[in-house]
Amino acid sequence: KRSGSFVTTSLLNQLSQIVGQAFSTIGIDASFGRTSLSQRRELGQFQCNGALGAAKQVGRNPREIAEQVIVELEKSGLFSELSIAGPGFINIRLSDDFLLGHISDLAEEAHFGCRSAHQSQKVILDYGGPNVAKAMHVGHLRATIIGESLRRLREFIGDEVISDVHFGDWGLPMGLLIKEIERAQPELPYFNVDFTGPFPEMSPVTVEELQELYPAASARSKEDPAFLEEARIATFELQKGRAGYRALWQHMRDISIAETRTDFDLLGAQFTEWNGEADTNDYIPRMMVRLKEEGYSEVSEGAVVVEVAEDGDKKKMPPLILEKSDGAVMYGTTDLATIEMRQDQHNPDTILYVVDARQSLHFEQVFRAARKCHSIRPDCHLEHIGFGTVNGKDGKPLKTRDGGVVRLRSLIEDAIEEARKTVTESGMSERFDTAELGDIATKVGIAAIKYADLSNQRMSNYVFDLERFTKFEGRTGPYQMYAAVRIKSMLRKAKEQGLNEGRLIATHDTERNLILALSSLPEAVKGATEKNAPNILCDHVYSLSQEFNAFYHECQVLGEPDEAIRASRLRLCAITLRQMEQVLYILGIDVPERM
Ligand code: ARG
Repeated sequence: KRSGSFVTTSLLNQLSQIVGQAFSTIGIDASFGRTSLSQRRELGQFQCNGALGAAKQVGRNPREIAEQVIVELEKSGLFSELSIAGPGFINIRLSDDFLLGHISDLAEEAHFGCRSAHQSQKVILDYGGPNVAKAMHVGHLRATIIGESLRRLREFIGDEVISDVHFGDWGLPMGLLIKEIERAQPELPYFNVDFTGPFPEMSPVTVEELQELYPAASARSKEDPAFLEEARIATFELQKGRAGYRALWQHMRDISIAETRTDFDLLGAQFTEWNGEADTNDYIPRMMVRLKEEGYSEVSEGAVVVEVAEDGDKKKMPPLILEKSDGAVMYGTTDLATIEMRQDQHNPDTILYVVDARQSLHFEQVFRAARKCHSIRPDCHLEHIGFGTVNGKDGKPLKTRDGGVVRLRSLIEDAIEEARKTVTESGMSERFDTAELGDIATKVGIAAIKYADLSNQRMSNYVFDLERFTKFEGRTGPYQMYAAVRIKSMLRKAKEQGLNEGRLIATHDTERNLILALSSLPEAVKGATEKNAPNILCDHVYSLSQEFNAFYHECQVLGEPDEAIRASRLRLCAITLRQMEQVLYILGIDVPERM
């Protein structure tokens, strides 16, 4: 077994260090040794352009510098080819010993070298964000898919992750619902001021009814100011603890949570906490008193607010409103109190909010208020991870045919239905029984929407096009999944035939290119983590399958007559599969056993 010392840093870092060392030997700053993967593989595997910058700085000829660097590099014996192109670019090819040694070490690590450069943090991820009585919609789709992928990514690099669904369960919508239910069923015990229970065990309304009641109540409040006022008062009384309202609220919350669990299960989202806005209720009075006493909050036009404008603001920054004149708490109040609660319960290093980009002003206000009011440890990182909208083919945010909100569940069902068609057309229906076919269609459908969502730049909008998403070719989830399944089947066959894996050797450039792609996972993971950008991992897994296909096209594996070469290739396939499945797992994509 090798020492494993190579893996403490990624291949690119290691190479940059070696080249940097050569620069420094000839008296030039080592930072010029920065090396990157070459875009033009036929010229070299890697490229270093540092001689050009260095030449400018020290006033020498760049080609001359490059030549001297190459002389130094040749002494190391780590390279099979070093050449100069154009004005002084250095093209680099690694020796097979170096390359194979690196990938062998990397493959032995459970995390492919991705943990070594990362200092573990305690991260709270706030995503999902469904609301009581409202079916989850297309906006929650993105929050859930992106949030879950960031959760898996953080866990992969060794962070301690707390995932909180942060249920929307505490604003005016609750008062509106209470009053709407009271209109329909005034005989229920919940509305009696003096009644303290016992209240009925069964909810007086079903989830389906709630989802009808809410729009009705909301419409009524717009036409009828008296109803709105009653709802405001009910919200206030609920928040202050009126027993009947609390009991009714608990029913609404419970059945809504149960409903969202189905959606979250389908999407594979795993929450460690099922907290909601209401869970901050105990923190709010204390917070309000402290903020007043310490002079952070003030009264403005009858409302309690925290001023968050700062010198040098380019855009208008309205104050964060904590309490309206009617005394009810707001979205900003519960979010600020949630920060205090999280500080109190978890003392996190980072809190990330995966929420629609259209809420960016809200989060800016909340974060500023949290800093100003010392609601959180000063070095805790707070960040809003925004995202763009999901659009229909007309380029506008996705709507149902009659202009309504598209439910998350129907999106998922449509995706699975579309996947079933593709899967059936590809002839799988003859090979698998109904149950397995159903399982494959579900996995393909989910993979399709997830990959389509995650492969876009987070902040851009995208068009929801199931026909394209479910295709087995191109940059799609099903394509990536299929690539992994093919390797799986091949390795299964190898096992059946009693063929073993063996030591890695390289006999073909497509093998080396595949190894280079595998070695670049640490960079992809680092980039995806720093930018909260799962699309970088989508690109990585795509390039893996491209390089694998090129290799598989050129090289025999099971049919290779030379035993040592075949054993090496089987090992390369196994490493590729393990990495592909790992990255697909982070993207939330399950790979079936066969398809
Ligand atoms: N419930 C909110 C919505 O549907 C999302 C909650 C996001 N998280 C938060 N801490 N504000 O828009």
